Amino acid sequence: MSARSCLTVVLAAGEGTRMRSSRPKVLHAIAGRPLVGHVLAAVQATGSRVAVVVGPNADAVTAAVTAQVPDAAVFVQAERRGTAHAVLAARAALEQGADDILVAFADTPLIRPETLAALRAPLAAGAAVSVLGFRPADPAGYGRLVTQGDDLVAIREEKDASADEKAIRLCNAGLMGISGAHALALLDRIDANNAKGEFYLTDVVELARKAGFRAVVTEAADDSEVLGVNTQAQLAEVGAVLQHRLRGALLDAGVTMAAPETVHLAFDTKIARDVTIEPYVVFGTGVSVAEGAVIRAFSHLEGATVGPGAIVGPYARLRPGAVLERDVHVGNFVEIKAATVEAGAKANHLTYIGDARIGAKANIGAGTITCNYDGILKHKTDIGAGAFIGSNSSLVAPVKIGDGAYVGSGSVITADVPADGLAVARGKQTVKEGWAARWRAVMAAKKKPRSAP
Ligand code: UD1
Ligand code: MG
Repeated sequence: MSARSCLTVVLAAGEGTRMRSSRPKVLHAIAGRPLVGHVLAAVQATGSRVAVVVGPNADAVTAAVTAQVPDAAVFVQAERRGTAHAVLAARAALEQGADDILVAFADTPLIRPETLAALRAPLAAGAAVSVLGFRPADPAGYGRLVTQGDDLVAIREEKDASADEKAIRLCNAGLMGISGAHALALLDRIDANNAKGEFYLTDVVELARKAGFRAVVTEAADDSEVLGVNTQAQLAEVGAVLQHRLRGALLDAGVTMAAPETVHLAFDTKIARDVTIEPYVVFGTGVSVAEGAVIRAFSHLEGATVGPGAIVGPYARLRPGAVLERDVHVGNFVEIKAATVEAGAKANHLTYIGDARIGAKANIGAGTITCNYDGILKHKTDIGAGAFIGSNSSLVAPVKIGDGAYVGSGSVITADVPADGLAVARGKQTVKEGWAARWRAVMAAKKKPRSAP
């Protein structure tokens, strides 16, 4: 981390019309986190102060920003009059001063902290402006970087560019560093004399040079970092790039995935080494999986903790608050919510466990349901260590099954069962010898013979 202080202004005032969505563009999520959240995380990783510029009526954006970065300064750009105008909306933060000022876009979520740091390096070396450049396959729509040797001379927006300038392949990725000592003076000189009639941040390059300062380009190491989101298709594309990155990091860390492209991760998924993840597994936010666990195909996990050596799935669903301790087995069509399953316990088939504790080595038979909700309140089920719950039992909470107790299959348990006891709560079986044969005979006699054709 640099010893120089930094303020990053994140522009988030875009209207996002092309998303065709009632949700503000920067709140659309990839890998379980809003676009603006990814940018804020990268900025925070560099140790920079944060200012965010939002549009009018963007309370939801402000709330998301301050939830993630409580000391972020949020400014409203009431009218959308260009990128320089947007940066100046954060004037109060700029006036507080910083050695380096960075400008980032909230709709460009894949930017890495290392790239933000690289952009600051030329400022420390005396340049007044540092611009992130890249070479897109199709430069249409981007500002072109006009260079002379190592110097950046100007950024020409597509609409204002001459034919020669349009032929330049090196483009403005949008990210910029400006020396804090000169930022406000330079930004205040920008006017709206251009094809769009907007205050272009990019004009800061020529203004800096006019004042006798240097401007330089830093090329992005990886073009995918500067992908922006304007449409749902681009949201999906950027999301796919992020998934690829997240999976790659897990593979590098010793996680086994036979078909990584089918595994969907969240930005905060924590998976230890020697975990196996079978195809088609979805991780929502807040999941951690400990060493040696196996997550079998078609499982869905969210807000869950999976202990070492546990086996989950296929077709399991772990919801928020599910905690599986060491060597727990959770099998097909089992749903677990807000419940701790202690070491070595098993629930292998067709079960719902909610608001519960399952003691160590307990066995939960197929079709067991914790009836945790009475329509108004949730209640807890507590199952002791080594207990055995027979198949297709309903445990009506609040209820306690003692250590080592048995519950007979098909029971509806409404009262506590003492340790090592047996509870059977179902209709008693009666057997009538020969009854079925007699019944068939009676019914056959009643059935009318078919009339002849
Ligand atoms: C901008 C750059 C262009 C660069 C491109 C990279 C300028 C003048 N041009 O163009 O050189 O190649 O980004 O993607 O800077 N915003 C506001 N308020 C405003 C205007 C914009 O908050 O008044 C925000 C937008 O929401 C967006 C960002 O600033 O996140 C960039 O604005 P956009 O209109 O997309 O600029 P481009 O025309 O793409
Ligand atoms: Mg743009």
